Amino acid sequence: MSSTPRKRAEDLRSHRWLGVKDLRAFGHRSRLMQIGYGREDWQGKPVIGIVNTWSDINPCHAHFKARVEEVKRGVWQAGGFPLELPAISLSEPFVKPTTMLYRNFLAMETEELIRSHPIDGVVLMGGCDKTTPGLLMGALSMGVPAIFMPAGPMLRGNWRGVPLGSGSDSWKYWAELRAGNIDERAWEEVEEGIARSFGHCMTMGTASTMTAIAETLGFVLPGGTSIPAPDANHPRLATNTGRRIVEMVWEDLTPEKILTREAVDNAIRVHLAMGGSTNAMIHVVAMARRGGVPLTLDRFDELAREVPVLANVRPSGKYLMEDFYYAGGILGLQSRLRPLLDLDCLTVNGKSIGQNIEGSEVYNDEVIHTLENPVSKEACAILKGNLAPHGCVIKPSAAEPRLLKHRGPALAFEDYNHMAAEIDRPDLEVTKDHIIVLKNAGPVGGPGMPEWGMLPIPQKLLKEGVRDMLRLSDARMSGTSYGACILHVSPEAAIGGPLALVRTGDMIEVDVEARRLDLLVDEAELARRRADWKPKAPAPRGYEKMFAAHIAQAHEGCDFDFLAGTERLPEPEIH
Ligand code: FES
Ligand code: MG
Repeated sequence: MSSTPRKRAEDLRSHRWLGVKDLRAFGHRSRLMQIGYGREDWQGKPVIGIVNTWSDINPCHAHFKARVEEVKRGVWQAGGFPLELPAISLSEPFVKPTTMLYRNFLAMETEELIRSHPIDGVVLMGGCDKTTPGLLMGALSMGVPAIFMPAGPMLRGNWRGVPLGSGSDSWKYWAELRAGNIDERAWEEVEEGIARSFGHCMTMGTASTMTAIAETLGFVLPGGTSIPAPDANHPRLATNTGRRIVEMVWEDLTPEKILTREAVDNAIRVHLAMGGSTNAMIHVVAMARRGGVPLTLDRFDELAREVPVLANVRPSGKYLMEDFYYAGGILGLQSRLRPLLDLDCLTVNGKSIGQNIEGSEVYNDEVIHTLENPVSKEACAILKGNLAPHGCVIKPSAAEPRLLKHRGPALAFEDYNHMAAEIDRPDLEVTKDHIIVLKNAGPVGGPGMPEWGMLPIPQKLLKEGVRDMLRLSDARMSGTSYGACILHVSPEAAIGGPLALVRTGDMIEVDVEARRLDLLVDEAELARRRADWKPKAPAPRGYEKMFAAHIAQAHEGCDFDFLAGTERLPEPEIH
């Protein structure tokens, strides 16, 4: 914004490292020269950190080696000095037990990378699920100007001419294989065709959800998150992002001016209209709280009653992110939501979201519906009751309607291995009216709250043609999953939440309309069970030990207690 007083070179954070005349700064400058840079490369220029979550084993970020050079090109062009800082890549398919165990690790790494180095502004390169919230949480806590460079969705999958979606279609065809409807060769072809370019999952999984949220919060150049990773617009976005961050430093456009209560509400509205991943409820709470906005799950429920699902994208809908881009992308969707959005919120390009969507249109109403003719009414519902005093979440649009008001007996499993050993037994006593319950899959129990929440339907029922039943756990589920899954039950079983007390045969009542989830067992019996309950032994040492000791529950965003809050850490001493 031209009216804002611009920073002077002496005001830059990096000036303390590079601009002063003392022995320490001599050391810093001589060491930059050791790399091959000359004074004219950095003198009087903002130093731009580029936090890059590339790694050899992250397929979603495989193009970041090239993109980071394109970001640097923009930084140089605009008169900045780019420095790439690699960070943990959190490859969703490969990191076990779950990337969620390390989201806060990335947040901490991002904050400390910026804090400990002479960085004036930062480009955050992410996209694969947890990278987006992890990077933003760290940048929010650090507080220097920050812009997010999204990986972009991969191209549509293809199998025998049928478009395939990440995650969603693996579950679907796996079920068909187990039911005997497709053969091994067909299954191999699905494997060969489902992920055919770099870029993040192209369904409305956590990646597409979180990048859309990052953009709506105001941290991405307008329209950037919808561009497919291999599209030539994507490297141009990278260069524009590099150019823009330099200006943001001079303008002192810090994250606290962007992430406001109103921006968080806008982001939740877009999340709901996208039919986004349930994972976002954890991440948005964590990000908002880092930014000083005290968000609770109730806000999601309130807004879900106002905002219908407009994006017809799998798993809740039919299309994929590539189609969404051609239909007008996020700017098209935001323009459809215009009457519901706070249009004054500031974004990284220095303009308001209202200015950014000026003139944006939707080119295909089948892919991005209108408010009058939505894909479905409600993206999510927060349920509470004696089984989830702090709440849990369901995506009603992804469930068979008969299950939204249901009373049935529990089929309870103590942990994942217990469930895996039992679930496909031919003599398992189970009907489609049972509610499958998985315990000890939460933040402490998993550990890290793995994406186990789309509990498998027993093979016996699959063969009878059952494709959905109620499933309940303290786990998360992949944003690409679907079905009547009740997730994030809080407090979790591993810390003695009521879920820990459920036994097979107990009656459970679910009423999504009334937002209730109750265990129909009397208090005296529950008290007896509670007296017998024992917590699981903590990890003997290492990161998992620290994790279990400091992790917050799902409804609080699963941040570490020592990272939460808005207090800025002091600048490091330079001696
Ligand atoms: Fe990276 Fe899905 S695996 S976004
Ligand atoms: Mg995922």
